[in-house]
Amino acid sequence: MLSRPLPSGRDWLVVTTNNRSKSSFAHKNEYGARARWADRGFRYNYIGDLIARLMKSNGFPLQVELHPGSHCGPLRCSYCYSRQQALCDGLMTIDHYSKLLDDLGGHSPFIEISGIGSDPLSYPDFCKLLRLIKRKGFSFGIHTKGLLLSRELIELLNSEHSEESYITIGVDSANADTYNRLHGLPPNSSVYNRVRENIVSLYAEKSRRHSSLKINLAYLLLVNNSSKQDIDEFIQTFGDYADVLRFSIPQVPNVADPIGYLHRTETDQVLRLLGKYANDKITVLNFTESTHDEAFEFCLAQRFNATIDKAGNVFPCPQVALKDYLSLSWGNTTEHSFLDIWNSDRRKKTQEMSVRDMKCRVCDRKDESINKELNHLMDTNRFVLDLKR
Ligand SMILES: C[S@@+](CC[C@H](N)C(=O)[O-])C[C@H]1O[C@@H](n2cnc3c(N)ncnc32)[C@H](O)[C@@H]1O
Ligand code: SF4
Repeated sequence: MLSRPLPSGRDWLVVTTNNRSKSSFAHKNEYGARARWADRGFRYNYIGDLIARLMKSNGFPLQVELHPGSHCGPLRCSYCYSRQQALCDGLMTIDHYSKLLDDLGGHSPFIEISGIGSDPLSYPDFCKLLRLIKRKGFSFGIHTKGLLLSRELIELLNSEHSEESYITIGVDSANADTYNRLHGLPPNSSVYNRVRENIVSLYAEKSRRHSSLKINLAYLLLVNNSSKQDIDEFIQTFGDYADVLRFSIPQVPNVADPIGYLHRTETDQVLRLLGKYANDKITVLNFTESTHDEAFEFCLAQRFNATIDKAGNVFPCPQVALKDYLSLSWGNTTEHSFLDIWNSDRRKKTQEMSVRDMKCRVCDRKDESINKELNHLMDTNRFVLDLKR
């Protein structure tokens, strides 16, 4: 329980803290690895960084996440947390995005481009969208499987843009057999080879242009891909084509059964194994549980994030940008301006609801750790979140 009732109001304008936590990015984990659990790509995982950003904020979202894509192509990833869940109907046009980005302009939130049950690159005008985002001066981070990385997009990604921008490509495998098994593909599929070639081309273009785009390759640790041989092979195959190789354990899906997840003791063994790789490129996200945390009552993460699905619906977080949770949407950007939606009574209403009433105990990990830590800091009176209008 919170030590005081959560004040109502739509703005969180002033944030103060007497928590003296250090805000260094580098941490040694308990296994001694040079793992960075506050990797810049995983922006909100580190509470010190979040608080510093909140103190400088102006009541506008720190990050807006776009889910422009409408499908995953041939991929049916066994671990996906959106399995068995449908997207809302509708697709924003490039004009809708242009208007939305104008609404966001001047406030400069970070634009995350991802999806749940979709790959963002499946948006038919993806290059046009990215050009708009860059032209309007936003920093961005893209999460994709990399299958639809075209030559045009590779060049665009490596042309001028902000220092902070990155792309994270989920690979999860060191060879085609494992890739096909994990991603629901037939044994003779060529998807893995195409993804690998795209990654090699992307990195070659980055090197040729000396671009500042950060290239992360993600690896979710599961029963079928976590042997020492698998991990060695992945590092050997991809180590020269990425800035960061990022390992983590997957989170249980929202509604479907978890398939092929490691047990806790196996997770510990794999993390210990990863701890032996003394390599600055290797990041291990500091989560050891796949299950969702149930220890907090209110969602505080929704106060500084917004996620916009392919149809323009604005949701409190990326994990609920799905048809089943349409009742949590604050409005649609094809009908209203983003600012009106951000300041709406509907948004205020979800802030006042407990997560039990929101029926959404499905946070992704960055939001879950924010919720856990902010609720705890408020409980112990080490953090004051001023939510005055
Ligand atoms: C939901 S996807 C969206 C973008 C795109 N479809 C993709 O897979 O990259 C974003 C990231 O979440 C990861 N992901 C999917 N299911 C997950 C799970 N159960 N736990 C943790 N991460 C997961 C994906 O591998 C991907 O790196
Ligand atoms: S992980 Fe990404 S590509 Fe795979 S099924 Fe989920 S949303 Fe689609």
